[in-house]
This record gives sequence, C-alpha cells and structure tokens, in this order.
Amino acid sequence: MLVMHTIRNSARLALRNPTSAWRNSSAPLNSMRTFSMGLALRQQDVVNVTFVRANGEKIKSSGKVGDSLLDVVVNNNVDLDGFGACEGTLTCSTCHLIFKTADFEKLPDKPGDEELDMLDLAYDLTDTSRLGCQIILSKDMEGLEIHVPATINDARAA
Ligand code: FES
Repeated sequence: MLVMHTIRNSARLALRNPTSAWRNSSAPLNSMRTFSMGLALRQQDVVNVTFVRANGEKIKSSGKVGDSLLDVVVNNNVDLDGFGACEGTLTCSTCHLIFKTADFEKLPDKPGDEELDMLDLAYDLTDTSRLGCQIILSKDMEGLEIHVPATINDARAA
C-alpha cells in the first residue's frame, strides 16, 4: 500500500510540474499504471495463513495462490524444525499438518495413495491430517489456521 501511495503521489507531483519529463511523456505514466495493476494483482494472489505450534504459539505467514504449504514455510523461513525434509517428494512425512475439520472438508483434493502411505508413518495422526507439501493454496484458503504436531517423523530414517 505504501508503495502504491508513493507512486500515486509522485505521479500527482509530476503532473503539477510543467517541466516534468513524466508530464511530457505518457510512457512513464503508462508504465506506472501497469506497475500499479501488477501490484494489485499480486495482492489478490496473496493468501495469509497461520501455523499453530503444539504449544499454541501462532506463526503468521503468507504465500501466493498456487504455492504449497511447504513453499510457504520455505519461502518465509518459518521456523518449523525438520519440516519438509524431502522437499515435497512424498518420502518423509515431516510436513504433517493438522487442519480444522471445516477447513479439511473444504480442501479441493483428497490425498492420493502415496500421501496416505506417508501419513500412516506420521506421528500424532488425526482424521484431518494432511501433508503440507500436497496442499496448494487457493484464494478461499485466506486466513487458514493449521496446527503443527508436536513431533515429526522423518520416514526416510525408518
Ligand atoms: S515434504 Fe516430505 S512428504 Fe512432504
């Protein structure tokens, strides 16, 4: 928002200044308009999520539509020890997350056999458990709160 505000103010100042290069050329203003639209688009694509540790600590984070929850953890350096050890190749189960029932039921994709096999090896498994590397963010996941189990199991170590 601050960036957009600053750009708008700069454009207004430029239009008031008769010697402004911006005033004498429409190209930069068109570029600014495109840039502003790009920012607006990007803001629409942002999905805010909260990871809740077993001790109740909440970690707010965000990703883009199309990111996995593993991407969110990695891209934001969310401090979840050992999370995503296999980098999303469905061989570790360290990205085990627990959803609220209502959120779990809204998830668009059901777990495949490979994910179910990995979930069987996860600690603290629940009926609403999923692997974070398999959950792809969509805009209707805005505000999602996901619980992180107290312990993780790296299935590769078995
Ligand atoms: S990151 Fe290893 S199974 Fe998801």
